[in-house]
Amino acid sequence: MTEILEIWGGHPLCGTVKIPSAKNSVLPLLAASVLCQEKVCLEKVPDLSDVQVSLALLRELGVSARQSGDRVLITPGRQLKSSLSTEMMHKMRASVLFLAPVLSRMGSVDASLPGGCKLGARPIDIHLDGLEKMGASIHWHEERLYLRAPHGLQGAEYTLRCPSVGATETLLLAAVCARGTTILHGAAREPEITDLAKFLGVCGGRITGAGTETIRVEGVPSLFGATYTPIADRIVAATVACACAAAGGCVTMQDVRAELFAPVLDVLEKAGCNIRREEERVTIERRDLLHGVGLVETGTYPEFPTDAAPLLAAALLQANGESCIQDTIFPKRFACAEGFGAMGARVRLQDAALYINSGAITHGAMTCAQDLRGGAALAIAALAATGKTEIRDAFYIKRGYADLKSLFRQLGGKMRMFKK
Ligand code: EPZ
Repeated sequence: MTEILEIWGGHPLCGTVKIPSAKNSVLPLLAASVLCQEKVCLEKVPDLSDVQVSLALLRELGVSARQSGDRVLITPGRQLKSSLSTEMMHKMRASVLFLAPVLSRMGSVDASLPGGCKLGARPIDIHLDGLEKMGASIHWHEERLYLRAPHGLQGAEYTLRCPSVGATETLLLAAVCARGTTILHGAAREPEITDLAKFLGVCGGRITGAGTETIRVEGVPSLFGATYTPIADRIVAATVACACAAAGGCVTMQDVRAELFAPVLDVLEKAGCNIRREEERVTIERRDLLHGVGLVETGTYPEFPTDAAPLLAAALLQANGESCIQDTIFPKRFACAEGFGAMGARVRLQDAALYINSGAITHGAMTCAQDLRGGAALAIAALAATGKTEIRDAFYIKRGYADLKSLFRQLGGKMRMFKK
């Protein structure tokens, strides 16, 4: 049995959609709630399978955690556990973010390696190296990881060998209640890092410099709770924008600021879309043919985001002229290229670069999702293709989109999801 997303393409998209809170902000905030001594309420949280996994991990630790509509309510337990199941850890990459807060709070944690989309090797060496520098001891036994810090974590000055988003989040979560001061050099600058630091600050943490490559943390004994609305999901916004660019039409995205996904909007404008940027709203319109944009390279924020690379590729299948998208972060970002080819697009994958010289009339096809953003990219390509497309293993898409079919149905897209 698998989940299938069926799309009937060839119709322009028109209308308005609200952009939900960012998955990649909500997940670290849920891990951070382990450190909170009081209730936490997160608002505008989409119903994602990765959110459900995080709530299950919190419940494994003895924390009361549930989602009611678009609110997540967390009530910390008095006596926390410190073991995270292999089954849950394997379900997503963000499960790694639970290591630091549990270790900080309990003095020990045992878990397995995280799961996550297969985008290439995704080690956690920077996470672990940083925790060691803060006083943790690390042991492996039968593919389980045992971290100990019986005397608590100690602030340290640490340079990340690469600006890893997850490792920066791990070290922020380790430092916020550590003894003394931590200074992180070479930190990631993504908006989700800034959002985590802002949430920790609202809960009583003392963090400066988030959003820059040097972050300073003064450890505090414990954190309060908070009611908090995470930032908008810039990758969901990029998904909607690329879908409108692909299928044509005019779409307004509410509750999102243009600067959150500026590199994506800039490339779509270069390809021939009209973009209107307002305070908390962006409107994109595509009436004429798209044209190729040459080379686009992904990078760490504020460069073009790796997660939007397959989404942009799907839009550029409709463009006249050449484009090349080079992902500098993950070697296996374009597993969706196989599906693009099945739809008749002229694409060539060479290492982590996807060459697009399409402008062909793409048609519906039988395809298969292999990761979250690749699955969403196939849906975008299908919206522009004539006829019916089926995307098997569509469960990947539910990791990052609460209900992609409803999102696009609101805009006139013809989609249904079913099991077979
Ligand atoms: C986060 O993953 C996001 N996930 C990813 O989004 C996103 O693609 C990625 O950041 C880059 O922006 C979440 O926030 C839950 P990294 P993360 O650590 O933290 C290497 C999506 O679709 N690295 O910044 O795992 C790593 O191999 C997902 O929502 C090490 O070598 O990304 C990769 O090449 C996909 N050692 C590079 O750094 C480490 O210890 C960037 O990875 C950690 C990372």
